[in-house]
Amino acid sequence: MDRIIFLVLFAATTSARPWISQRQDNTSTAAISDFADITPSADINWVPCFETFECTYLTVPLDYEEPAAGTTNVAYVKLSSGNPTAQDILVNPGGPGSSGVGYVIESGPKILKLLNGAYNIIGFDPRGVNNTGPTLSCAPTPEMRALYKAPSVEAPLAIHYSNSKSLGQFCTQVNANNDTKYAGTVASVQDMVHFTTLQAAANGNSNPEAEPIWYYGVSYGTVIGQTLAALFPHRLGRVILDANVYGVEHYTGYAPSAIEDTDKTFSTFFQYCFEAGVELCPYAGTSTSAADIEERFRALLQALEDEPLPNPLSVGIVGRSELELRGFMTMYKPIPRFYTLGLELAALERGNVTEYAMVQQVSAQPGGAIASNPEYAGLGEIEAQKLITAIDASDRYAITSLAEYKEVHATLKSASQYGGHGIAVENTLFANGMGIMPPESQRFPGFKHVNCSAPILFIGTAADPITPISSAHKMAQYFAGSVVLSQNSPGHSFQSIDSKCMLGYVATYLADGTLPDAGTVCEVDLTPAEVFEKGKEEVGKLLAGAEKM
Ligand SMILES: *[C@@H]1O[C@H](CO)[C@@H](O)[C@H](O)[C@H]1NC(C)=O
Ligand SMILES: *[C@@H]1O[C@H](CO)[C@@H](O)[C@H](O)[C@H]1NC(C)=O
Ligand SMILES: *[C@@H]1O[C@H](CO)[C@@H](O)[C@H](O)[C@H]1NC(C)=O
Ligand SMILES: *[C@@H]1O[C@H](CO)[C@@H](O)[C@H](O)[C@H]1NC(C)=O
Ligand SMILES: *[C@@H]1O[C@H](CO)[C@@H](O)[C@H](O)[C@H]1NC(C)=O
Repeated sequence: MDRIIFLVLFAATTSARPWISQRQDNTSTAAISDFADITPSADINWVPCFETFECTYLTVPLDYEEPAAGTTNVAYVKLSSGNPTAQDILVNPGGPGSSGVGYVIESGPKILKLLNGAYNIIGFDPRGVNNTGPTLSCAPTPEMRALYKAPSVEAPLAIHYSNSKSLGQFCTQVNANNDTKYAGTVASVQDMVHFTTLQAAANGNSNPEAEPIWYYGVSYGTVIGQTLAALFPHRLGRVILDANVYGVEHYTGYAPSAIEDTDKTFSTFFQYCFEAGVELCPYAGTSTSAADIEERFRALLQALEDEPLPNPLSVGIVGRSELELRGFMTMYKPIPRFYTLGLELAALERGNVTEYAMVQQVSAQPGGAIASNPEYAGLGEIEAQKLITAIDASDRYAITSLAEYKEVHATLKSASQYGGHGIAVENTLFANGMGIMPPESQRFPGFKHVNCSAPILFIGTAADPITPISSAHKMAQYFAGSVVLSQNSPGHSFQSIDSKCMLGYVATYLADGTLPDAGTVCEVDLTPAEVFEKGKEEVGKLLAGAEKM
C-alpha cells in the first residue's frame, strides 16, 4: 500500500463542497480559481475568487529587516460575512505544511458556524505552503523527487535514521543558497501582523500599528498563535488555540510529550467500540469489556509482528507498525474513522486482509474517512512539513547519533506503546541532518512569561493522539490571564465531536472576551453509538459501492 505520512498536525476538513455551484457559463466575475491569475500587490486588494470567496495575493519582504533580500507573495482567501463592519478572523489548520487557503475554501462555512457570528474568516497559506512563497523543495528536479523512496515503516531503526540523515543533508545542501530559510514560523507570524496593519490602514483606522489580531489556530496552527502571542503580546484581540502543540518542544524539532495521551485515545476507542456494540463496531465481537477488546488488539499486533500478512490488493505486507500507524491516524478524527477502524480490525482478526485493504482503499478516496491529498503525494507531502520544522528547530535539534536515536525511540515507545514507533520514525526525524538557519530577525528567541493585550482561550480534548491537553496547560502558563477549556472526548481538535457547550464558550469569548472559569470541562452531544452511526453515514455508501465492484 502507499505509505501515508499521517502524523501531520492537521485539523479535520471536509471534502464535499456543495456550495460551489457548477457553472456552465463564463460570465461570473468570480472566475478566478487560481492564485496564478491574481496579480500580487504590496497593498491588500481583494478580488472575487473561487466562486464565493475573495482573494488577495500580498507581496511582502522575505525579511522585514533586510529589504535587499527581496520579496515573496502570501495568499489569503476570505469568506465574507456580508456585514461590512464585521471583524476579520485569521485561521490556520496546521501541518506545518497544510494550506489555510484550502482549509477556508473547503470548510469556510463550517468554521463560520463553529465561531458562531458575523465574522470574516480569512485563511492564509503560511510561508512555503501551497500558494505562498518561497516554494519549498528538497529535490532540484522532479525526476530526483520521484527517485526518493522513504523506507517502510517496518524498516529497522538504523535505516530510518540514516535515510533521514541523508535526505536532510542533501536537502540542506540543495537549499544552501536560496530563499528557503525565510519560511520559518516567525516569518509567517510577521506576515500576519503586516497583513493586519495594512488592512486596518485600508479600513481608515487612525492607528493601524495597534490594530488587534483575531486568530483561530488548530494543531500546528497553535504554534503560529503561541509565537504570535510571544512576539506581539500587545497585538492580541481574540486568540483561540485548539489542539495545542507544546511550542517549547516544537522549536527543538523533537516533541516527546506529543504522544502522552495517544494510548489513552486508543483506550477510548475500545471503550466507544464496546459501548456502540457489535452491530456498529464489529470488532467488539463477543468481548465482555473494553479492556478485553484492547487485549485482543494487542494480540493482533503481536501476531502481525511475528508474521506480517501479505496484502492481496497491492504488493506489500500488513505488519505491526503499519497497523499501529493506521490506528494512530484513526484517533485524530473519531467521525468517521472510529467506524472504519472497527471494520478494518474485525476483518484483520478474521485473517481477511482483502477486506481490510478494501476498507482502507475506500477510506482513502476523496470524501472517504482518510482522504489523502493528491497534491502532496510522495516526497512532496513531507517537504513543507520537514523544512518548516527544521528551520524552526534551526541549531537546537539535539539527536546527533544513531545511539541517541535508539534511546529516543525507547523513550517514545515507553511513552506510548501504540504511537511511539510511528512518531519516532516520522516527525522525530524531520530535522535530522538538516541545517537551514533562518535570518536573525526570524529566529524564535524562546517563550517567556508575558502580559498580553487580551487573554488567550486554549482548548484541548481529554484524549488527543498528537496534542495532549497537558500542552495547552503548559503553554497557557506563558500568557497571563489565559484559560484552558477542555472537551471530554477523543479526537484532535474540539471540532472532532459536536459539543454545544464548547460552541457556547467560544461564542461568548469572541463576543466580549469573557473566558470560562479555569478547569471547565465540556461534554459532547453524541453517545459513542452515535459517533459510530455518523461515521457509517459518511462512509457507508462508499463502502457499499466498493463491494459491488
Ligand atoms: C469557459 O472557460 C473555460 C476555461 O477558460 C473554457 O475551457 C470553456 O470552454 C469556457 N466555456 C464557455 C461556455 O465559454
Ligand atoms: C491550495 O490552494 C488552492 C487554491 O489556490 C486550493 O484549491 C487547494 O485546495 C489548496 N491545496 C490544499 C492542499 O489545500
Ligand atoms: C532552492 O533550491 C532547490 C534546488 O535547486 C529548489 O528545488 C528549491 O525550489 C529552491 N527553493 C527556493 C525557495 O528557491
Ligand atoms: C474477504 O472479504 C471479502 C470482501 O468482503 C469477501 O468477498 C471474501 O469472501 C472474504 N474472504 C474470505 C476468505 O472470507
Ligand atoms: C505583568 O503584569 C503584572 C501585573 O500588572 C506586573 O507585575 C508584571 O511586571 C508584568 N510583567 C511583565 C513581563 O510585563
